[in-house]
Amino acid sequence: MSADTSASPPVHIRIENGPDFVFGPHEDALLRGALRAGLAFPYECGVGGCGACRFELLEGEMQTLWETAPGLSDRDRKRGKRLACQSRPLGDCRIRVRLGPDTDVPADSPQRSRAVLTGRRSVGGDMLELSLRVEGMPAFKAGQFALLYPPGVTGARAYSMSNLDAGDGDWRFIVRRTPGGRGSTTLCDGVAVGERIDVDGPFGHAWLRPGVRDVVCVAGGSGLGPMLSVARGVLAEDSARRVHLLLGLRSEAELGAAAELQALAHERLTATVVLSAPVDPSAWSGAIGFVHTEVERALAPGLDRFDFYFAGPPPMIDAMQDLLMVRHRVPFEQIRFDRYV
Ligand SMILES: Cc1cc2nc3c(=O)[nH]c(=O)nc-3n(C[C@H](O)[C@H](O)[C@H](O)COP(=O)(O)OP(=O)(O)OC[C@H]3O[C@@H](n4cnc5c(N)ncnc54)[C@H](O)[C@@H]3O)c2cc1C
Ligand code: FES
Repeated sequence: MSADTSASPPVHIRIENGPDFVFGPHEDALLRGALRAGLAFPYECGVGGCGACRFELLEGEMQTLWETAPGLSDRDRKRGKRLACQSRPLGDCRIRVRLGPDTDVPADSPQRSRAVLTGRRSVGGDMLELSLRVEGMPAFKAGQFALLYPPGVTGARAYSMSNLDAGDGDWRFIVRRTPGGRGSTTLCDGVAVGERIDVDGPFGHAWLRPGVRDVVCVAGGSGLGPMLSVARGVLAEDSARRVHLLLGLRSEAELGAAAELQALAHERLTATVVLSAPVDPSAWSGAIGFVHTEVERALAPGLDRFDFYFAGPPPMIDAMQDLLMVRHRVPFEQIRFDRYV
């Protein structure tokens, strides 16, 4: 994804039974070109992990940016499927993909820009808050994410904004330093305050919608970032809806993150921290277990009276989906999430 695209002429992409669009000379991937052209191209993660952006190339040539991206299975590859977030057209192409509804088209197209790292602070355990100063980017909605391009690392990484967009170019992210992870360790340890980082966004569908139902925000680890943003969004509204914010952490070592919840204190907010593996259960007086279990214990029955937002690692997302969709039959349109693939 770090390919130099500066010399490429614009190319035309024809979508079978759909619109045509021009893929600009500075785009790095089909997906981002299509989104910038205002199309409802399907996607979730934007970084090769989920498979939501699969399409078929009918004519033309494309470069595959990440050959082994986990978003495609061997069967997908044998059937000629490709990932739009990992494909770069090399000339005019014709493709087959089913676009989403027009309601999926963001009012403002994402933009790629250069940001400056303006601050970094510990949030507890292996999590840091990074502050970026962006320029020329469209406003983001609470719950959306951006793609950051850590210097010297192949490929973009997705990180969710944790603040609200105040129109001043201040975008904040809570990043967990993943052991052995090249993108997150570069962002946490390898970029100095004052250095520049390429950023593209905003992206994502799990943004806060207006509504009348109370809101449940469930965060696993660094899923805290977007859930803080969504909670802040609800609490900033002139409305009566309440927020139940549940944060799942592993052990006492990560409890620094609980201070982020305390800082939100509001009469319409209920905040709960759940530890899945406390080192000393007798010293921890709060909830113990997996965070989805606490959602059910604290709020069921009648989970369909809430709108749900959640973000975190795949096992937590799977457990939340099973809880809400299968066991408690919460309508699909009341559920929005980001899976940290
Ligand atoms: C929508 C979304 C929002 C997220 N928000 C957050 C957040 O707010 N905070 C947070 O800490 N984490 C978040 N994540 C997870 C984050 O994007 C990274 O996966 C995580 O930080 C580990 O990255 P790493 O580079 O350290 O690990 P690595 O193991 O080096 O890389 C992990 C990911 O990077 C991408 N990648 C790896 N190699 C390549 C390659 N060669 N080419 C292209 N892409 C590659 C893939 O997506 C891969 O899954 C989010 C993920 C998603 C999908
Ligand atoms: S959006 Fe392309 S694999 Fe997830």
